[in-house]
Amino acid sequence: MMMGGGSFKLFICVLLVPYFACFASGFTPADMYLIDCGSPTNTTVGDRVFMADNLASQLLSTPENILANNTSANSATSSGDSALYQTARIFTATTKYTFSISQRGRHWIRLYFYPFVYRNYNLSLANFSVSTPNYVLLGNFNPAGLSFKEFSVNVTSSTLEITMTPFKNSFAYLNALEVVSVPDILITDDAASVNPPGSFQGLMRQALETVHRVNMGGPTVSFENDTLWRTWIPDQSYLVQVNLADNVSNIASVKYPAGGATIDIAPPSVYGTAAKMRSENDPTSNFNVTWEFTVDPGFQYLVRFHFCDIVSKSPNQLYFNVYINSWNVVPNLDLSTRTLGILATAYYMDFVMASADSSKLRVSIGPSPVNNAYPNAILNGLEIMKMNNSAGSLSKVASVPSSSRPGSKKNVGVIAGVSIGASVAVVMAVILFFLHRRRKMERLRQSKTWIPLSINGGTSHTMGSKYSNGTTVSAGSNLSYRCPFAAVQEATNNFDESWVIGIGGFGKVYKGVLNDGTKVAVKRGNPRSQQGLAEFRTEIEMLSQFRHRHLVSLIGYCDEKNEMILIYEYMENGTLKGHLYGLGLASLSWKERLEICIGAARGLHYLHTGYAKAVIHRDVKSANILLDENLMAKVADFGLSKTGPEIDQTHVSTAVKGSFGYLDPEYFRRQQLTEKSDVYSFGVVLFEVLCARPVIDPSLPREMVNLAEWAMKWQKKGQLEQIIDANLAGKIRPDSLRKFGETAEKCLADFGVDRPSVGDVLWNLEYALQLQEAVLHNDPDENSTNVIGDLSPLVNDYNHVDVVSDAQFEMSSADDLSGVSMSRVFSQLVKSEGR
Ligand SMILES: *[C@@H]1O[C@H](CO)[C@@H](O)[C@H](O)[C@H]1NC(C)=O
Ligand SMILES: *[C@@H]1O[C@H](CO)[C@@H](O)[C@H](O)[C@H]1NC(C)=O
Ligand SMILES: *[C@@H]1O[C@H](CO)[C@@H](O)[C@H](O)[C@H]1NC(C)=O
Ligand SMILES: *[C@@H]1O[C@H](CO)[C@@H](O)[C@H](O)[C@H]1NC(C)=O
Ligand SMILES: *[C@@H]1O[C@H](CO)[C@@H](O)[C@H](O)[C@H]1NC(C)=O
Ligand SMILES: *[C@@H]1O[C@H](CO)[C@@H](O)[C@H](O)[C@H]1NC(C)=O
Ligand SMILES: *[C@@H]1O[C@H](CO)[C@@H](O)[C@H](O)[C@H]1NC(C)=O
Ligand SMILES: *[C@@H]1O[C@H](CO)[C@@H](O)[C@H](O)[C@H]1NC(C)=O
Ligand SMILES: *[C@@H]1O[C@H](CO)[C@@H](O)[C@H](O)[C@H]1NC(C)=O
Ligand SMILES: *[C@@H]1O[C@H](CO)[C@@H](O)[C@H](O)[C@H]1NC(C)=O
Repeated sequence: MMMGGGSFKLFICVLLVPYFACFASGFTPADMYLIDCGSPTNTTVGDRVFMADNLASQLLSTPENILANNTSANSATSSGDSALYQTARIFTATTKYTFSISQRGRHWIRLYFYPFVYRNYNLSLANFSVSTPNYVLLGNFNPAGLSFKEFSVNVTSSTLEITMTPFKNSFAYLNALEVVSVPDILITDDAASVNPPGSFQGLMRQALETVHRVNMGGPTVSFENDTLWRTWIPDQSYLVQVNLADNVSNIASVKYPAGGATIDIAPPSVYGTAAKMRSENDPTSNFNVTWEFTVDPGFQYLVRFHFCDIVSKSPNQLYFNVYINSWNVVPNLDLSTRTLGILATAYYMDFVMASADSSKLRVSIGPSPVNNAYPNAILNGLEIMKMNNSAGSLSKVASVPSSSRPGSKKNVGVIAGVSIGASVAVVMAVILFFLHRRRKMERLRQSKTWIPLSINGGTSHTMGSKYSNGTTVSAGSNLSYRCPFAAVQEATNNFDESWVIGIGGFGKVYKGVLNDGTKVAVKRGNPRSQQGLAEFRTEIEMLSQFRHRHLVSLIGYCDEKNEMILIYEYMENGTLKGHLYGLGLASLSWKERLEICIGAARGLHYLHTGYAKAVIHRDVKSANILLDENLMAKVADFGLSKTGPEIDQTHVSTAVKGSFGYLDPEYFRRQQLTEKSDVYSFGVVLFEVLCARPVIDPSLPREMVNLAEWAMKWQKKGQLEQIIDANLAGKIRPDSLRKFGETAEKCLADFGVDRPSVGDVLWNLEYALQLQEAVLHNDPDENSTNVIGDLSPLVNDYNHVDVVSDAQFEMSSADDLSGVSMSRVFSQLVKSEGR
């Protein structure tokens, strides 16, 4: 039975979630030092044990400090860690902790302070700095009340030193201390920059201090419920107008598909609750929900938004704007396009705010009028992290005064005592155990790291006479060239917003004109696009290898300044989708539609067979079929393409990618990619072309929502004509429609092996075109011949059959076609031409 329905796919998706989640959850830190300073015994908090202070004394440069206690901190916090605040170590001289680091990378440094009175020490009077060799974490610090500070720094050597420096006539203290590895994926090097708009690079060198970590629309999420022991506090106290926001919650629905956010980015209890606009009773609602945070002016901040669409019933229903202060940092955000149409998927975005003079930072969400969406907006979580200034300081104090530099160094380097050794051994075992997982994370991280591209055999060409000596920028070349950023700027009138011709998940597409007058389409990658960099590289690699009349040509690319810009030939008539519905363009005739389908099939056929290894497009849809000035079809967007099938066999690619409504259900089930997945998607396109409606239309009655399901229902009844585009009514010859419908039906076969190759599809479409032109309509053979039906049993043994080569059909590598099937179709065509 046919199983290609949207509901079915969603169901599969839900089934897959636990599988993804068990890969994504839990992180075991390579380094983990937890010290309950001043405590004579180990202290258990949640499932962690903070070691007694004497066990940590080997880490200290001057162990002979004062150990203080006072039970007045008994009820200092309600979160189960108040025991940590009851004891402290008092440092009367500069003292250094030295931690041995087994795995370089970012580490949390968490400091706990509670100012109680012990004998003649009133901790409220302490005044000190805390620093690492490269960064000042706290300067002139005087914790007046309970204070918990969280920092993270990238440790690039085998030790991490943390120095406590009391100021003149004062002292320092610490109630508890954590040094713990952070998963590499948590903070990557890049973010979008807010002011000026662009991209920010270099987060890995930043020391960060968490200043706000908020769970929108929900309660406190305590460290026990967070894989990285973070605490998320409720947003109510930050809301500027509490009455504009509502809480929503659906924690069970949160999904973490492979390749996206993991449970370590934020737990389900954060993604599963949200604040939303209180707009349900008023469809004309037009206001922002705003939160206001106190920040230290003069510093840059990393702002991380956590989103998860737990409110929509179907994709493409929720559009909203996201603001930081007065900057609209994400206009018209449609989360479903960022998460492959799968709702309730965890998704986050990072922004760097340049230093502001104000001590207030505002974050707002508000409705977007695009697509007449119902006004609504959501936010699930928010983190605001302070970045070190150019002096390497997170405090106004630029550096620790030299007069109070570390004095005694006698115990530096004595690190691994017996008890520490034991815990290190445990940690080592755990590291080995989780090595596999860490490799996986490493891959994820690497996929976001920029590696300069080397295509065309490693030579990188430069174009643009104005920018370097050499050739002029020109579309005439056969190779794609690295293009100077300045040339792209000029071609697009400096990315003039009014020249935008499209917006996709990858970024904006601009119209442009090169200095030789050639029109081009310039796709500028959004640096925060999750799939961004990998797709950028794939696209360049694929398009540099393939040249075909029915594939969109890449003219150049630009990777300067961490830009991800692709320059294509300009396709005057836009997308096939735009000509089918939505844009109100003149309706295409049946003949034009058939010719477009034939052109696209040729492009795909070339991809599948024109190269030593088959290339699977993976995102075949009407929006990726472009039309030139003569309505000739070209296949575009190779960002998701894979060469197959070996990649498949190693199961590297298990993440299901593609577009909702076009996805091959078998690919979903088995996570294995073949050319037949493209055939499935192309079958959906064929029905789309015939019916001129979106493949998923949630506004329709339940049984009509999914086009593939709906069209197959009518096709099976033999009444496809009931649902065709009204503009085509009475204009398609029944034989042509029947042939077309059968072809599409075969493409949507449940199992890949039962689907025809694109080559077969191509021939059948040619045939449907011939039938439309009426040359065959009296052929006595025609009614009894089901070309596709006869072909499919042969699909598997076509490989070594000699084939009629026919330049007209551009069979550059025709061995994908069955000689039998081909000659059979061919004979019919020959017959038709004879008349
Ligand atoms: C305290 O914790 C350390 C490791 O953190 C462990 O080696 C030691 O056995 C513990 N001591 C007690 C008394 O539980
Ligand atoms: C607190 O410190 C005193 C010595 O100053 C010691 O006798 C007592 O046992 C300590 N209490 C706790 C709970 O650590
Ligand atoms: C404990 O601290 C409180 C205030 O923080 C103080 O009033 C009390 O005297 C202290 N107790 C001791 C034994 O120092
Ligand atoms: C400790 O210092 C704080 C701040 O100066 C002061 O308010 C408090 O009274 C002092 N406590 C004692 C016991 O001296
Ligand atoms: C801390 O010490 C520094 C340097 O001696 C001084 O400038 C600052 O005012 C002190 N802060 C407090 C709160 O005592
Ligand atoms: C830490 O810094 C080093 C060198 O600057 C870099 O190679 C590494 O990727 C960074 N790690 C993280 C997690 O940022
Ligand atoms: C949202 O939840 C918080 C507690 O988590 C509560 O204080 C607040 O009143 C709720 N807001 C609404 C509008 O229900
Ligand atoms: C963790 O989350 C669960 C479910 O939301 C909740 O029942 C539990 O109380 C939470 N635990 C803590 C310590 O917050
Ligand atoms: C939302 O906030 C932004 C930034 O402050 C502002 O430009 C916009 O006009 C606000 N929208 C509404 C509806 O108030
Ligand atoms: C933070 O410190 C690092 C290392 O000292 C430095 O490279 C970086 O530029 C600093 N950040 C800023 C915003 O100045």
